[in-house]
Amino acid sequence: MNATVQQLEEKLKAAGVEYDLIPLPEDLPIDIPSHVMFHKISFAQATATILYKTEKGVVAVQRRSDTKFNIEKLKQALGVKQVEFAGQKELQELGTQPGIVPLVGLDVAYFIDKKVLDQGKVYGSSGDKLFGLALQAKDLQKANKGEVVDVTDEPTKGKKKVFGGMRATGRLHLGNYLGGSKGMLALQDEYDCIFFIADLHVLTTPYDHTTLRQQVRDVILDYLSAGLDPEKCKIEVQSTIPEHTELAYLLSTVYPLAPLEDLPTFKEKKAQYPKNVTVALLNYPILMAADILLYKGELVPVGLDQEPHLEVAREIARKFNQLYGETFPEPVRFKTKGEYVPSLLGKGKMSKTVEGSSIMLADDLETIKKKLAKVTTDTGTTGGPVPKEGGVASLFTYLALFNKDDMHKKFKTDYENGVIRYGEMKQFIAEAIYEELKPIQEKRKYYEEHPEVVDALLERSRQECQEIAKATLKEVKEKMGLPL
Ligand code: TRP
Repeated sequence: MNATVQQLEEKLKAAGVEYDLIPLPEDLPIDIPSHVMFHKISFAQATATILYKTEKGVVAVQRRSDTKFNIEKLKQALGVKQVEFAGQKELQELGTQPGIVPLVGLDVAYFIDKKVLDQGKVYGSSGDKLFGLALQAKDLQKANKGEVVDVTDEPTKGKKKVFGGMRATGRLHLGNYLGGSKGMLALQDEYDCIFFIADLHVLTTPYDHTTLRQQVRDVILDYLSAGLDPEKCKIEVQSTIPEHTELAYLLSTVYPLAPLEDLPTFKEKKAQYPKNVTVALLNYPILMAADILLYKGELVPVGLDQEPHLEVAREIARKFNQLYGETFPEPVRFKTKGEYVPSLLGKGKMSKTVEGSSIMLADDLETIKKKLAKVTTDTGTTGGPVPKEGGVASLFTYLALFNKDDMHKKFKTDYENGVIRYGEMKQFIAEAIYEELKPIQEKRKYYEEHPEVVDALLERSRQECQEIAKATLKEVKEKMGLPL
């Protein structure tokens, strides 16, 4: 145990405060979500201690990790003009490090946001990566002689609601990641986000009931590993919140049959699976509208192909509002930054349904190398401009997407001069792709080895979502004149 922890224990004992030091696994990442999941607590109970540099010196300010500092309020409360995060140097001088700033014991003035004091037991860092500290919120204030201040906002205050999701079709490839989820995950900071997994929609076309549950799990794990941060957004699975289907039924009463039969997606699926033209398939857009409207989603990050479905959702919202009074916003498609990732086969984009076209988020360096080795090239001696189609074009796109050094330029010049060495180029690309995937895979491994952590996180998020869902349904039933 390090010196900071001894200092902390002395302070706690001197203050006559009860506390727990909780041993933590060595491989537990130092981020807050990992600790929340490990302790099975809420983000409200996880207390972050942030060191700020001001013109009056360094101070420690504590907030609930589900709230955000309002810097103006903070300046006012501290009576200072300048606040910025303390740097490595200041942390070192105080004998601590980023990520493990202790709840108690540093030789600075402590301020505690008043929302922390709504909590019973709170959790935070002991100053040692291998121990967590838990104590009563009021004792935290007592031990630090912390001054109570009001310096935070709820994280969702004034933020637009984003509701996004995908069907549970199994593990993600690079195309799904760069084309969709990465852009979607970038929204977490600015918007009030719910990401969901549409498993009920999978049932509208032929599917494998022996693998569906695992497919749902795989999407969740890939999302978490790719950077979905449960501290910032909620994640839910459609079938675990029955309010989706209940609302879908109620909304189906305001929408006519005919336009559903005319939707391009319905016609395509009907042609593709003529023996499976079910009521559920026809109802697909109604359920999708219910998904979004259940949370009063305003922005929906989906591809252009989903625009007709969103139009149905808007029409339903409008009709409902007309009949029963203003209730739902009209959701619009949200274009996120996505990249087009070409197929390994040199034609079209990476696709789950096209064998041999994709690099998966889970592929290791060897697998990536093997897959790239199969990409067809030419002799490399023709020279002239880089082709726009085919294997060589795909390789150049991968270079542009992944390689941060200037290798794209180098290989382009080599190509133009007819001296390109594809072996070398592929080696470069493989390493550049793997560099982006490695941290994702490490996180995935952690979650795979700790299923209870994922379960706890999902259950907490499900409860939070269901609370919102229940409120919407209550409002809807009330307006529709149903008994409550
Ligand atoms: N139809 C969407 C797709 O295929 C999946 C989906 C269902 C969805 N419900 C949704 C997407 C609600 C966004 C919001 O991609």
